[in-house]
Amino acid sequence: MMPKIYITRKIPVPIIKHLEKSCDVSVWEHEDTPVPRDVLEEKMGEIDGLFCLLTETIDEEILSKATKLKVISNMAVGYNNIDIEAASKKGIMVTNTPGVLTETTADLTFALLMTTARRITEASAFLRAGQWQTWSPMQLTGQDIYQSTIGIIGLGRIGEALARRAKGFNMNILYHSRNRKLQAEEELGLHFASLEDLLRKSDFVCIMTPYTTDTHNMIRKEHFQLMKDSAILINTARGGIVNENDLYQALSLGQIWAAGLDVFEQEPVSLDHPLLTLPNVVTLPHIGSASIVTRMKMAEVASDNLLRVLNGEIPRHVVNV
Ligand code: DGY
Repeated sequence: MMPKIYITRKIPVPIIKHLEKSCDVSVWEHEDTPVPRDVLEEKMGEIDGLFCLLTETIDEEILSKATKLKVISNMAVGYNNIDIEAASKKGIMVTNTPGVLTETTADLTFALLMTTARRITEASAFLRAGQWQTWSPMQLTGQDIYQSTIGIIGLGRIGEALARRAKGFNMNILYHSRNRKLQAEEELGLHFASLEDLLRKSDFVCIMTPYTTDTHNMIRKEHFQLMKDSAILINTARGGIVNENDLYQALSLGQIWAAGLDVFEQEPVSLDHPLLTLPNVVTLPHIGSASIVTRMKMAEVASDNLLRVLNGEIPRHVVNV
């Protein structure tokens, strides 16, 4: 009998067809609505493999419904949506999709940095609203990027890819992470800094660290107080790493200059969220890895991880052991 798998969203058809060759596949057929929890709960008792996205909360309660589940394949590099400990206790393997989205996410991070610094969305809206009366010396002036200082919090694959882009802009690059990365320091001319030092010195503070209990609200009031009043915060990692109320206060009080956010604590962010009222905040709907090629690769890697576990092989990217 073929193993049963459930895919929690409409993913590219070639990937589904490939999985159908060796599995009994069912799919939550909606592109823009996550699978309701009760539907997923029901499926958990029937399936051998789950192909899910970061929109699904796979907690202890939902895992308790799994009777023969062997693998949860998350189509993302981050896996904070899954209770890893609870999965491990049940002997369920959890896999993710690192590597294939590194450059695309670093591109988006740098694009958001530039957009925020040079007020690109604001300037475009200004023109379309008919407010462009004349060229004016200080109109829509922003912050320079070239030769400024960038502070990268979390120097994993994506943090390092961001550093490579920053090097091309002749930026002074600081980083803070749990461990020093001596090779990257040498190759890219990075400087390790304490979190406090990085915040004090950086023109751009980029959050590139995974979201864990340790990094929850790691950037809050006291950290904004250390930053330059011309500094820009960029977050393309996870919303919960930054305390959003404190960020709102810091921006409103002029403690920092602007923020570029691709991620929010609650997604989709509510349209009446205070941060969305500020002109100096550029917001995106979590599109860091959203290029056609990269999303295809992520789906391929997630499907490969899933199949390998079901075939009794070692998957390429295991999160738990
Ligand atoms: C991830 O993979 O964790 C991103 O947030 C979505 O691509």
